[in-house]
Amino acid sequence: MPTIKIDGREIPFEKDDTIIRAAHRAGIDIPHYCWHPGLSVAANCRMCLVEVGPPPGRPPMELDILRWDAEKHDYVPVKKPKLQPACQMTCTPGMEVLSESSPHVAEARSAVQELLLLNHPVDCPICDQAGECRLQDYWLEHQRKGKRMQQEVVHKPKAVVFGPTIVYDAERCIVCTRCVRVCEEIAKDPVLSIRERGNLGEVVVAPGRQLDNNYTLMTEHVCPVGALTSSDFRFKARVWFLRNARAVCQGCATGCNAFLDYDPRNNTPYRYRPRENLAVNKYWMCDEGMLSYKRAVEGRLLSALVGGDDSVIADALVAAKDQLKNHRDDTSKIAVVLSAQHSNEDNFALYTLAKTYLGAKDFYVSGRPLGPGDDILMSPDKNPNTRGVIQIAGESAPRPIAELIDAMGKGKYAFAIALGSDLEVDEGEARAALSKLKGLVTIATHDGPLVESAHIALPACSWAEVDGSYVNRQGIVQRSDKALRWRGDARPGWDLVGQLGRALGYATSWKSLADIHKAMPPGTYAMSPAGLMGMPSGDRPPGPLQPSGTIPAEKKPEALT
Ligand code: SF4
Ligand code: SF4
Ligand code: FES
Repeated sequence: MPTIKIDGREIPFEKDDTIIRAAHRAGIDIPHYCWHPGLSVAANCRMCLVEVGPPPGRPPMELDILRWDAEKHDYVPVKKPKLQPACQMTCTPGMEVLSESSPHVAEARSAVQELLLLNHPVDCPICDQAGECRLQDYWLEHQRKGKRMQQEVVHKPKAVVFGPTIVYDAERCIVCTRCVRVCEEIAKDPVLSIRERGNLGEVVVAPGRQLDNNYTLMTEHVCPVGALTSSDFRFKARVWFLRNARAVCQGCATGCNAFLDYDPRNNTPYRYRPRENLAVNKYWMCDEGMLSYKRAVEGRLLSALVGGDDSVIADALVAAKDQLKNHRDDTSKIAVVLSAQHSNEDNFALYTLAKTYLGAKDFYVSGRPLGPGDDILMSPDKNPNTRGVIQIAGESAPRPIAELIDAMGKGKYAFAIALGSDLEVDEGEARAALSKLKGLVTIATHDGPLVESAHIALPACSWAEVDGSYVNRQGIVQRSDKALRWRGDARPGWDLVGQLGRALGYATSWKSLADIHKAMPPGTYAMSPAGLMGMPSGDRPPGPLQPSGTIPAEKKPEALT
């Protein structure tokens, strides 16, 4: 593979790579604002300027400039290298690039920083981006001095509502056009553009429109400064108090990779951010998914229910044993409902209990009903693990819940054990059919029709409270990591299944996730995903400066995990 040298370090590059892309792949951070690996090249911020040596046999490209000579007390003509934008310049074999090691580059970066901050309101303490702002980071890394301009700054519109999800502050905007390109290139909705030039430039929404497509939150996500804020997150948390866990979005079958940012002090999730995975979601997530972190805590089932009344798990298990006491009489009378909302671990536990111990033959799958999809990321299947259930149940081929309701209406089953709370069928019809059962035990994270109809309900941890594996629509098994502490009486779903099995007299001996993984077939669970941690925008390689609020999991103090 051909190579270039950056500050003397030889790195390979691929066809059509720009210097910054090759550097990014090699983990070398060249400072940048407008460049993003998932967007086209705009080359307008000039923060990525580097010194490029001339091709063999060619003279260096130089500029004539005047430089202040303190001894002569006058400007004197000198030559300096013509710096090149690393985001735009294509690599050629043997190219010699100076980045950190060039005094000309250091001077240019400092000057770009000063220019960008000339009119910028330096009120970081009240800015929502503080702690994860590229201007702050680069000021510290490349400038470290005040601006020379003393005049009043140019004032521009503040707190402009772009749409239902985004608020814009033109004074903080560095006009990098990342947000404009996200709308054009990712959302395919060119609703943003730039008005005016120079220090009057600002982002505007097309006349008669709002910023209201399925990917509006990606504009805020790529904004390197505090100009775009999300209505949902703005001013709710300071990022240095937040920790992050590697999650898989539960919003649909695409299974986008995300960081779940949460505050360990109040055990509360605050936002999702996309986590780079080129095979699944690249650098992006949809709005519906971005806001779905709330479901980790909203609408939860937090205590056991016996006959609809609050109980404790131990009593509920005794009641479940009583409710299911005749289940051995005729195993064809048992229906088992797996859940496309639950992890492979939970589904495997229930499948094993049902198939191996109870002798059940009929399996169904519950989940949320179909919804809107698109040809970008969003799948109409609003469940994160439909393929996982099919994988776990294998030859038992779980059938749609509508067939269960139909069969129950005809009195086919006396008992049912269900995972999950959602049903993608008419709730009234489902309730009428479920009421014919002698015993329905439901293990669920949230309230819903399967919980409301259950004789006994057991509260399971949400995906954010346990490690779990999910299989996305492409068949990729992905791991979502625990972020939050268990809420209320909730316990991991697989653990509740194990406890239920033991209450019924079976040797469901798994007591830890490792026990479950040992029992699961290879390829049905995933260990913690490899990948970059703690990256605010998915576009900076890990460098010496770790962004605030994104402490890698391995560095978390024990007390905070
Ligand atoms: S709002 Fe943010 S992303 Fe958009 S042009 Fe301004 S600085 Fe760039
Ligand atoms: S496309 Fe699906 S998985 Fe991805 S963010 Fe949206 S809802 Fe979540
Ligand atoms: S990153 Fe903005 S000019 Fe290269």
